[in-house]
Amino acid sequence: MRTARSWDASTYHTLSGPQAEMAEAVLDRLALSGDETVLDAGCGSGRVTAQLVERLPHGRVVAVDADAGMVEHARATLGEDCVEVHHQDLTALSLPEPVDAVFSNAVFHWIPDHDALFAALAGALRPGGRLSAQCGGQGNVAGVQAAADALVAADPVLQRHFAGWGRPWNFAGTRETQDRLRAAGFVEANAWLEPWPVRPEDPVTYLLTICLGPYLERLPEGEHAAFAAAVAERVGGELDYVRLNIIARVPPEAIG
Ligand SMILES: C[S@@+](CC[C@H](N)C(=O)[O-])C[C@H]1O[C@@H](n2cnc3c(N)ncnc32)[C@H](O)[C@@H]1O
Repeated sequence: MRTARSWDASTYHTLSGPQAEMAEAVLDRLALSGDETVLDAGCGSGRVTAQLVERLPHGRVVAVDADAGMVEHARATLGEDCVEVHHQDLTALSLPEPVDAVFSNAVFHWIPDHDALFAALAGALRPGGRLSAQCGGQGNVAGVQAAADALVAADPVLQRHFAGWGRPWNFAGTRETQDRLRAAGFVEANAWLEPWPVRPEDPVTYLLTICLGPYLERLPEGEHAAFAAAVAERVGGELDYVRLNIIARVPPEAIG
């Protein structure tokens, strides 16, 4: 399965405290009763999925991720009796049963085709089902990426590694997202941006594992740590996250 990047699942699991904090508000907006079936769209290592499981004492979690290492980690962490974890691409989602709600945290900006994504999520929901999601939005980690770009631009040897590079992030804005949600069949669609500065305890390891993946994939492994350390020094320890919040629902079944 082709994805925007690969992940070190166990290091991500340890360092994803900021993502776990972001997820709480996204889960609050779902206002679950506790007996629903909910899809975790892009479950990653399973750390945030466990937060969803806690809110569903009488319900069920179905999780999907496209990265084989993340799927394996989530299965091992959560236990296969507790959560069904599918190895799938969200843009070609195929679940055995419709779900009551879709939850997603820190995933959509890794997916280039939001039209296909939203159509697949709408198709997975039962009539009246709800979506609550958050991902990187317009301007997300712009300072981090400007620092990385400046390092590349200043060094002709680094520049050679980035010849023909296409930036894989899809940091969407609010208007385009609302339009895409409606085109996919969602109603009551709302999207808004929220600045969310993050100060990781260990910025270099955090940048290596989470923010700089697509840059590092272009560089020889021996240069990864120095590149991340130089970016960390330029940004001064604070990462300028901007989150795109999304809520929407699919229409209820037509009566009559
Ligand atoms: C930053 S992690 C977030 C994981 C988890 N939701 C969290 O909040 O910690 C992004 C995840 O999105 C997954 N992902 C990216 N593109 C995907 C796609 N097209 N289909 C399914 N999962 C995808 C990645 O494999 C990765 O596990």
